[in-house]
Amino acid sequence: MMTQIAASIKNKFAFKPIEVQRYRVTFLPSNESFAWDGRYRSLLELAQAHGIVADSDCRSGYCGTCVKEIVAGEVAYTGKPAAAVNSHSCLLCISVPKTDLILKA
Ligand code: FES
Repeated sequence: MMTQIAASIKNKFAFKPIEVQRYRVTFLPSNESFAWDGRYRSLLELAQAHGIVADSDCRSGYCGTCVKEIVAGEVAYTGKPAAAVNSHSCLLCISVPKTDLILKA
């Protein structure tokens, strides 16, 4: 019985690595493509780290300066967008890829 309880506790608290989803993010019109591997907090950080020109201001979803058109793919928001954005666009500063992505930068 003690062995079963110990095994149960060990399984419950066993280290489970966090799975990082890897996606491909492509910016048009340059057609530059980068791996999304969890190093960046947002698509804006990814773009700027690779020299993609992406205007920004508030960096928190309020101003709408960083809005970009989604050509293909889906994003997930890390915060609630306060700026107006339609389903074919995203706010780079508070979004991360949910699939491979093609964006007009
Ligand atoms: S920089 Fe203001 S909404 Fe993204």
